[in-house]
Amino acid sequence: MTILVTGGAGFIGANFVYYILEKYPAYKVICLDVITYAGNMETLNTALNNPQFTFVKGDIADREAVYSLFEKYKPTHVINFAAESHVDRSITDPNIFLHTNVIGTCVLMDACRKYETTRFHQVSTDEVYGDLPLDRPDLFFTEETPIHTSSPYSASKASADLLALAYFRTYKLPVTISRCSNNYGAYHFPEKLIPLIITNALQNQPLPVYGKGENIRDWLYVKDHCSAIDLIIHDGKIGEVYNIGGHNEHTNLDVVKIILKELNKPESLITYVTDRPGHDLRYAIDPAKINKELNWLPQTNFNEGIKLTIDWYLNNREWWENIISGEYKNYYEKQYGKL
Ligand code: NAD
Ligand code: TYD
Repeated sequence: MTILVTGGAGFIGANFVYYILEKYPAYKVICLDVITYAGNMETLNTALNNPQFTFVKGDIADREAVYSLFEKYKPTHVINFAAESHVDRSITDPNIFLHTNVIGTCVLMDACRKYETTRFHQVSTDEVYGDLPLDRPDLFFTEETPIHTSSPYSASKASADLLALAYFRTYKLPVTISRCSNNYGAYHFPEKLIPLIITNALQNQPLPVYGKGENIRDWLYVKDHCSAIDLIIHDGKIGEVYNIGGHNEHTNLDVVKIILKELNKPESLITYVTDRPGHDLRYAIDPAKINKELNWLPQTNFNEGIKLTIDWYLNNREWWENIISGEYKNYYEKQYGKL
């Protein structure tokens, strides 16, 4: 197998690169990444020493670059992680989300058609289903839940999903789609809740919590997401959508408090800030389909996963200090002002 991993210098893509390199020494892995603010070559340092691995710098929406990559490497499987992924940035500047998340997906699928790739897998998100009310813990997102997006980010991801299903129906492109809940783990860019709280707490900085902190997210350790995609690309049925999640719901405030307790830092660092516009209340995945059809179950519970994640940030200070001392400072000031 030759697997093209797009967005492999980002959080989940990089974890997937390492997962595949370790599990399948006979596979070739090509990473295509344009290295936006969220992409990081340092993350791929170890992979770059592996002869199974090749890095190509480029934009998934650049048709010429994508076709020449396909011509050269003839990937059998394409796993599309490349995306603009932060809801808050999509609220400030939606345009780039359409370029990468929609046009980029279209270009990749056109290349898969042209070069008759065995599988195109679209890494999507539970955010395409919109949100659930806080007072109905009995409700979950299934694959049948209607698409009902809230943010420009989720709207762009839903557009890509619909396009992928259209390519399956119209051109018989062998497509699969996975919709996962919120991930956490190593290499997570510090703008997202869990790494933001860990890195701010380690610096004794205020911890910005939107609204009252009562919104609920369903957290999954990133390696469990990788194992689910691994199963889907090997045994999943084409044309199908698979939800991925581990029934691990927490309010944002709970997550922040768990991290503070682990780090032995005071709750007085918590700072309530203006809520995100259109803020989704609750995400909760029903993973029954992938469990039943592909026998997938998460292996890491939240207590264990959050400890592993905190340890990773403690042991890889240089990785995140390099990020937060650069351009990120401007983003942070714009987003949060003076806390
Ligand atoms: P990330 O922002 O950490 O990484 C995105 C990567 O894509 C970066 O390396 C970036 O340089 C690259 N990229 C961006 N635009 C590109 C372009 N035009 N061409 C090539 N590369 C480009 O994102 P992530 O959190 O790792 O998310 C990966 C995928 O998983 C996304 O598609 C996201 O929608 C989906 N997802 C994320 C989560 C989560 O909790 N983070 C949950 C479910 C689904
Ligand atoms: P985030 O990590 O951005 O993921 P998503 O919006 O895709 O779920 O945010 C997770 C939750 O944490 C979400 O409810 C928004 C909230 N949040 C804060 O309260 N403060 C912050 O500074 C950030 C970035 C997020």
